[in-house]
Amino acid sequence: MATKVVSPNIKLMPVTATIEDAHLILGGCDTTELADHFGTPLWVMDYQTIVSAVNAVKSGLAGYPNSQILYAGKAFLCLAMCHVVKKLGLGLDVVSEGELHTALQAGVPTENIYFHGNNKSDRELKLAVENGIKIVVDSFSELSRLNEIASVLGKHAYILVRIIPGIEPDTHDHIKTGHHGSKFGISIDDLDDFVGLAISPWIRLLGLHAHIGSQTHDLEPFLEIVEVLADLVVRVQQTYGTTLELIDVGGGLGIAYTVDDQPLGLQEWAKGMSSAVEAAFKKRLLPMPRLLLEPGRSIVGTAGVTLYTAGDVKPLPEGGCYVALDGGMADNPRPATYNALYTAVIANRMDAPPSDTKTTLVGKYCESGDIIIKDAGISAETGDTIAVFGTGAYNYSMASNYNRTGRPACVLVDDGFAEVILERETCDDLLRQDRVPGWLLKS
Ligand SMILES: Cc1ncc(COP(=O)(O)O)c(C=O)c1O
Repeated sequence: MATKVVSPNIKLMPVTATIEDAHLILGGCDTTELADHFGTPLWVMDYQTIVSAVNAVKSGLAGYPNSQILYAGKAFLCLAMCHVVKKLGLGLDVVSEGELHTALQAGVPTENIYFHGNNKSDRELKLAVENGIKIVVDSFSELSRLNEIASVLGKHAYILVRIIPGIEPDTHDHIKTGHHGSKFGISIDDLDDFVGLAISPWIRLLGLHAHIGSQTHDLEPFLEIVEVLADLVVRVQQTYGTTLELIDVGGGLGIAYTVDDQPLGLQEWAKGMSSAVEAAFKKRLLPMPRLLLEPGRSIVGTAGVTLYTAGDVKPLPEGGCYVALDGGMADNPRPATYNALYTAVIANRMDAPPSDTKTTLVGKYCESGDIIIKDAGISAETGDTIAVFGTGAYNYSMASNYNRTGRPACVLVDDGFAEVILERETCDDLLRQDRVPGWLLKS
């Protein structure tokens, strides 16, 4: 019997979530014990949820073997995650020297790494060319800098060009990237000029890339990307007689943060995209290209749960209360940045009935906007362990040391074991980069 494919991105909780003795269990570990043992705030990543997400994409791509999944490291990257990437046979999208360094240190094969992002520095471009990393070029000036760098190194630069497809998905403005006027990529109208300039002994143009934005729930805008890219492959063929061999359709599939979110499943997304590529290229009498997909959030988002301890409870004159957590906007800046919504439970009292009390979960940072969830629907008490779901993507990677607070630890849970993959930052870690000019020390 065929195994059922689960697309974790459509669920609120990790795939291993269960309840035992009214405690939330993740990856076979009791979350209240995790909180006691490792302290809070604590990021918990469930390995099996990541595996399920990857398997869902692989299963959606089964009919299109000439394809590759590039995990978008910006969602969550550290050495352990790079090892997960290797173990699951994924490629990797990096956007900075730091992400590339992490990938190289973890031994991610260089042929599977793609360097994205706008305004890459010369140093980053040089590092990429030296290591044979493929580069997704974002602008004309980057192309000309890259050409110079490759010629000085005497090594070819293998590139894709990021185009602005002119597609606007239904998501927060700050995470739209494919609309006209986007800071990422070049205009479609400029592609012919770009391809002309890419004709150089040191540049090898492999294909086209587009990414419309993040937390998109429907297939439609993704299908539009395929049409745009297929048209552009025809245009380049007609103008230059070159058939581009690769298209990278980006990432951007959403996850369910609340019961109201109903994103398309990962399997359906991958199947929809690959079928669309097949149809679009067939219709235009083009050879089938190599297809790259770059999911980030939908691979790790649902795998992550943040555990907090509830602290002071402050009743409000107009009814309801604030429950203050021992973390907040420094470990999860998304609510303050994008008005992002989340779902929480009381991990040590999973049998507590939903509450009508207007409980707002606030953080401990010095901003009124440090609110993790408004009207959380739970009646938390001081000392409770609060679990916030869907924090695997863009939490650790966007976290800060605001109010000079160390970032939480992160544990990977699987089969009843929890292993630290990111140590908690201590106050001494915060001092490590500090320097005091000698004259300030003189009395
Ligand atoms: C070029 C590119 N690819 C992939 C991603 C991953 O997007 P998501 O995490 O929404 O899947 C992003 C995110 O901004 C991106 O800019």
